[in-house]
Amino acid sequence: MLNTLTQQPADALLALIKLHNIDPRADKIDLGVGVYRTGQGDTPVFGAIKAAEARLVAEQDSKAYLGPEGDMGFVEKLMPYIFGADSADLGGRIEGMQTPGGTGSLRLALAMVKRAGYSRVLVGKPSWPNHNQICADLGLDVFEFNHATPDGRTDMEALRGALAAAGEGDAILLHGCCHNPTGIDYSNAEWDEIAGLLGASKVLPIIDLAYQGLGLGMEEDAYGLRRVLAQVPEALVSYSCDKNFGLYRDRVGALYVVVGDPADLTKVISNGHALARANWSQPPDHGAAAVRLVLEDEALTAQWLDELHQMRDRMRQVRARLGAAGKTGGVDLTPVGNQHGLFSIIPFTAEQVQAMRAEHGIYFAASGRINVAGLTMGNIDQFLAAVESVTA
Ligand SMILES: Cc1ncc(COP(=O)(O)O)c(C=O)c1O
Repeated sequence: MLNTLTQQPADALLALIKLHNIDPRADKIDLGVGVYRTGQGDTPVFGAIKAAEARLVAEQDSKAYLGPEGDMGFVEKLMPYIFGADSADLGGRIEGMQTPGGTGSLRLALAMVKRAGYSRVLVGKPSWPNHNQICADLGLDVFEFNHATPDGRTDMEALRGALAAAGEGDAILLHGCCHNPTGIDYSNAEWDEIAGLLGASKVLPIIDLAYQGLGLGMEEDAYGLRRVLAQVPEALVSYSCDKNFGLYRDRVGALYVVVGDPADLTKVISNGHALARANWSQPPDHGAAAVRLVLEDEALTAQWLDELHQMRDRMRQVRARLGAAGKTGGVDLTPVGNQHGLFSIIPFTAEQVQAMRAEHGIYFAASGRINVAGLTMGNIDQFLAAVESVTA
């Protein structure tokens, strides 16, 4: 019977990595992969994480099961960073659980939304493709609204229209910061407006915070999420530590539920536990335990924040160089300078994307999404010259 299954398309980004790997050119550039890279092109383990892992190996005395909620010390230690030191549990209205990465958290959040009787999720377009894939897999309808205008601003008109036409039974999935793939985030003033609109509507916010600290700073990147939570009775927050602690393959994330009445908290989160049990039973421990050890130790916390700061500064430097290049061939790179996080979209045509690969060995997604961390002070001129030549 298994032969009734149909062939699924290969993941486009994984296929791209393969193409890059077999390209023999020494000066090839990979701008496709979704991980941070240093100025030397590496994705190292954070020093703070290495130290925490060493401690874990030395001191951990059991690998016994922890339960579907995972490491609750990890879940709680993160809360002041996400929700604010002064209102870390919103007066007893927040409960969390550990998940396998941000993806596991999104899967649980959306499955919970489905269980609660929601049928439709509003998603800005373009978005991280897995948002739509998870909704489709769960049988949730997706309503797409335009996220950004061609000149690199958020499309607030589209968002206002989508919210005005939505109501009970609808949820909205918003990127908390460092929008993937556009790098175009809402300004603080726009978040203020969005929070007000959500507060006045019946639409349930699901906030995906996968890049906290990679944009403007840990506090700054949480502005929108905190504004929304100050206005709405209920929300779900999907969090990933895979980028801001560099733990990608260790799959470290958390789901937080926010309820209107603290008396409902145990009931609501029990649905997260039950869904986790039916999906992966319990999340992997190692990465989350390392994050907890970092956050329990003042010196390691300071080291982690410093390493994150260096990452952010490097991405800002690359963005500043691209933005300063301005009009390059037929494209304007100015907006890239003001965008946030790992990704930006450059409006290349399909032919230009191909020419960047074939003629210059520069690899990125067909959408024109580049990972700015793939650029270094050593290859950025090569990239700009290639852009100039293929878009002229
Ligand atoms: C917008 C967004 N959300 C969530 C995730 C999930 O990250 P992970 O499952 O690797 O923690 C990603 C990863 O690329 C992302 O870009």
